[in-house]
Amino acid sequence: MAETKRLICRGDELAECGDGVRFVVDHQGRSEPAFVIRYGGEVRAYINRCMHIPYELDWHPGKFFDSEGLVLICSVHGASYDPATGQCVGGPCYQGLTNLTVEEIAGLVYLAE
Ligand code: FES
Repeated sequence: MAETKRLICRGDELAECGDGVRFVVDHQGRSEPAFVIRYGGEVRAYINRCMHIPYELDWHPGKFFDSEGLVLICSVHGASYDPATGQCVGGPCYQGLTNLTVEEIAGLVYLAE
């Protein structure tokens, strides 16, 4: 089956280590909350579910980074994740976030489905 791409947002909506853009994705047969952020100049997207307890991470819609912009942090109990990989780097998470494939083409951010 040919890969399709779904437009998520404009690239300029994603500042480096800034607010993320939330969206909903069909993932493994379920509708899941997800988000995209920019880190290291690259767009990166994850399912918006903490690996401690499956709550959404953001403390306010789109607020995924800690105050220094170093890690993605769960608003519930403070689990932190590497923005580049989604791997758990602190707090009560024992595995990483679920990665989604996104790419930026001509200033637009697409999810590969
Ligand atoms: S639910 Fe995310 S740290 Fe507990």
